[in-house]
Amino acid sequence: MDLISYIDSKQQDHLNELKELLKIPSVSAKSEHRPDIERAAAWVAGKLRAAGLENVEVVPTKMHPVVYGESLGAPGKPTVLFYGHYDVQPPEPVDLWTNPPFEPTVRDGNLFGRGTADDKGQVHIHLKALEALRNSYGMLPINVKVLIEGEEEVGSVNLWEFLRQNRERLRADALIVSDTAMLSKGVPSITYGLRGLNYYQLEITGAAQDLHSGVFGGAVPNPLTILGEIIGKLHDRKFRVAIPGFYDDVRALSREERKALHSLPWKEKEFRKTVGAPALCGERGFTVVEQLWTRPTLELHGIWGGYTGEGTKTVIPSKAYAKLSTRLVPNQDPGKIAKLVERQIRKLLPKTVTHSFEVLSKGKPWVAPYTHPIFQRALNALEAGFGKRAVFIREGGSIPLVTQIHEMFKVPCVLIGFGLPDENAHAPDEHIALENYFNGIKSIALFYDQLAGL
Ligand code: BES
Ligand code: MN
Ligand code: MN
Repeated sequence: MDLISYIDSKQQDHLNELKELLKIPSVSAKSEHRPDIERAAAWVAGKLRAAGLENVEVVPTKMHPVVYGESLGAPGKPTVLFYGHYDVQPPEPVDLWTNPPFEPTVRDGNLFGRGTADDKGQVHIHLKALEALRNSYGMLPINVKVLIEGEEEVGSVNLWEFLRQNRERLRADALIVSDTAMLSKGVPSITYGLRGLNYYQLEITGAAQDLHSGVFGGAVPNPLTILGEIIGKLHDRKFRVAIPGFYDDVRALSREERKALHSLPWKEKEFRKTVGAPALCGERGFTVVEQLWTRPTLELHGIWGGYTGEGTKTVIPSKAYAKLSTRLVPNQDPGKIAKLVERQIRKLLPKTVTHSFEVLSKGKPWVAPYTHPIFQRALNALEAGFGKRAVFIREGGSIPLVTQIHEMFKVPCVLIGFGLPDENAHAPDEHIALENYFNGIKSIALFYDQLAGL
């Protein structure tokens, strides 16, 4: 049987197997899920072995294990490093899911469940493509190294130590990643740029303990009010980030790139529908695509403190907290930006409170040319799998490893995403279109096959 007929004949098996992985709640952010993380890592390792990879290992780190495997039996052929992640975002709020987040369900041609698009479904595409190649040819046509981590959703904190210790083992001619999205349905896409991400946590303390707001209110600082005030001062009225120096190193978009980005079949109407807000807002002077892919931002993710339970409680809280992040673009430096953010927050805070500012993770932006011949192979493979020519896009999300590998090995990084912008990654009812999952397996198998000729 040829490669494509083989893959077509396995659709139901592939889907059932993916559901097994999706049932494991491998949420990296919460320590209570540690056993699930272990189970997911072991599951992935088992499938790497089943796909014929060798030296498969579940490598412990300070937090969540890294899964590694390789197949180096094609001397003289290119070696690729495939990267993905088996961890997922927390499923909350769980009651907004139509079906429970870890009970994968097919509805209307989509597979729903946490991790379907980000990133278990996309990792599985590669595992099944490799297995199909091996079962059709008896061996893999190229050399493959596979690295599937468990901390991507918390900033890949312990991955760098693994990279340092395994530099030579990981060396490859190209990095392949499927952890991004297509521009829109029916438009296969190759991503050549990502924003970087710095994540921060702020704690503000006023009084030494909670106080009765009747007895003390009017004379003492309220850290929640103060937090609200300073958060409100981090943007100006043009929706620019109001942190001195924040934009200093931002590289302007070239005229050619702007033209290329604006000739993409990107539909603002579709975007507005996906967002569902009464109106959009963004940095004045830039188009939505520019705002999303090429401009840095600051976002508030969570703010808490005081009393939020049922009924009333008249309290002046001692503490207030916020989680916030900045998305970065070339040539902003994560270390420099973290310092600027902290300095501005310190400057805005009144003397009535103390604070602690913690940088939870840092990550550089990534934008790279797509002139290497490997991109032609990717275009051909996607065209065969989807019946459509792929487009080159940038995206606003972040994958910290991509920049690291690009800097370490100076090799092309090919980001082929099979998600869609409206598939609710990180949100309730996350899903992947079955069409993209199945076409993805074919495209990736053909891509790996074509690389043998590179
Ligand atoms: N798969 C995403 C990254 C992504 C999303 C790239 C959409 C392109 C388009 C990844 O799992 C992710 O969510 N990354 C985090 C960063 C991390 C450091 C927490 C992100 O972008 O928020
Ligand atoms: Mn991801
Ligand atoms: Mn994610």
